[in-house]
Amino acid sequence: MTKEIEKWWNEVSSGYQKDAQIHTRSAHYGPYAPDENKLKLLGTVRGKKIIEIGCGGGQCSIVFAKQGAKCTGIDISVEQLKFAEKLAKRNKVKVKFVHGIFQDLNQFKSNSYDIVFSAFALLYSSDILSIFKQVYRILKKNGIFVFSLNHPFYDTVNPKTFKIENRYFKTGKHIEIETWPDGTKHKFVMYKRKVSDIFNALVKSKFFVEKIIEPLYVKKQKAWRVKKIWKEIYPEKLVKLIGPTIIFKAKKIK
Ligand SMILES: C[S@@+](CC[C@H](N)C(=O)[O-])C[C@H]1O[C@@H](n2cnc3c(N)ncnc32)[C@H](O)[C@@H]1O
Repeated sequence: MTKEIEKWWNEVSSGYQKDAQIHTRSAHYGPYAPDENKLKLLGTVRGKKIIEIGCGGGQCSIVFAKQGAKCTGIDISVEQLKFAEKLAKRNKVKVKFVHGIFQDLNQFKSNSYDIVFSAFALLYSSDILSIFKQVYRILKKNGIFVFSLNHPFYDTVNPKTFKIENRYFKTGKHIEIETWPDGTKHKFVMYKRKVSDIFNALVKSKFFVEKIIEPLYVKKQKAWRVKKIWKEIYPEKLVKLIGPTIIFKAKKIK
């Protein structure tokens, strides 16, 4: 099931990193969301043990390492991890990058991390409940789990027509076949879920949900070059009506 996602991310990695130009000044949360330096969900990370699941090019892990955290990043894509390793070197920080899947966190010890972080990655899993339970296991007491996702309401709207064309209640596997300029076809897979699915999975995993953040339109999008595809998916007019990113902050209180 993860094979097609791994293939996609290995294929798109270099183009994605070139287009996204993600900075390493502050951890980011996703399209039209403020960065961590604005939201301050993590508190000070100096001396903290952090795992980033679905770390991609490693930018957020690198930010945490620059701020004095001991950070591990895990990702399914070797191409994303190759980029991350190089970027960490360029930033002169040490991050432990691990090739693996967030569906299997068995290699990480129980009660041993202060923070688990994830930006726009958990949409690639069919089963978030099992991941949340594992995240709960590896966190220390009072440890926090902060993650962002595509806002499920945003995904109901067709960004060309601004009309609700996708049923909010139609959850589960979503496939798109992209034809690239060279004529080759590529399969994109993600999983749709409702806001309540995410919230209830956190509660079922024993987390205390401290905050849900649905950022309003944020003017500057320095992190992304304004590419045609970006404008197609996130037209400013639509983004102002309904934000594309949702962020959860949960705590292990027991
Ligand atoms: C949209 S990118 C986000 C990357 C990074 N968090 C960021 O914000 O730049 C999603 C990432 O999730 C990774 N990913 C997808 N499925 C995964 C899985 N099952 N386990 C670990 N990583 C996964 C992809 O390889 C990709 O790097």
